[in-house]
Amino acid sequence: MDLHQGIAQDGKIPWDLPEDRQYFKEKTAGAVVLMGRGTYHTLTAPLPGRTNLVLTHKKRLRPGFIAVRDLVLVIESYPDLWIIGGADVYAQALPYCQELYITHVAGDYACDRFFPAYKSMFKSSRKQGIYFVYQQISKD
Ligand SMILES: NC(=O)c1ccc[n+]([C@@H]2O[C@H](COP(=O)([O-])OP(=O)(O)OC[C@H]3O[C@@H](n4cnc5c(N)ncnc54)[C@H](OP(=O)(O)O)[C@@H]3O)[C@@H](O)[C@H]2O)c1
Repeated sequence: MDLHQGIAQDGKIPWDLPEDRQYFKEKTAGAVVLMGRGTYHTLTAPLPGRTNLVLTHKKRLRPGFIAVRDLVLVIESYPDLWIIGGADVYAQALPYCQELYITHVAGDYACDRFFPAYKSMFKSSRKQGIYFVYQQISKD
């Protein structure tokens, strides 16, 4: 997220950080990930090596994606679920999350989609990167 908790501009992530993509890949390898239909449309293919669930009211998606329509049921069914965006899904899922993995990108990227308010709900530990900061926070 950027300085203002922005995560997207004009339907895209407005920065290109290969190190962050690699970090995301390592963290979610082999996992079940849940995205909203908005985020699904930004992907050209399912994320490899992961179970790709898409929260949507639609029934038909491209091969490799699984449509789900009940957020709470999905969260209860997969205790190690990774919520991977976008803004709409983050906002609904946040109250159920035990940990957040946030990459803070320096700067204002004029975003039009934002991560929800989270600071009062979580404690923080940070790892400084060269261009950005990884933050892992938990409820305990
Ligand atoms: N910077 C980052 O880390 C990051 C990460 C991920 C995504 N993004 C960006 O975020 C943007 C997309 O975010 P967004 O907020 O527009 O969309 P989104 O959260 O990805 O998806 C929203 C859609 O999900 C479905 N949905 C949401 N809640 C639902 C529910 N309770 N039950 C059933 N379906 C539900 C709806 O689609 P239906 O109409 O099909 O029901 C809704 O239109 C993209 O630009 C993407 O690039 C950024």
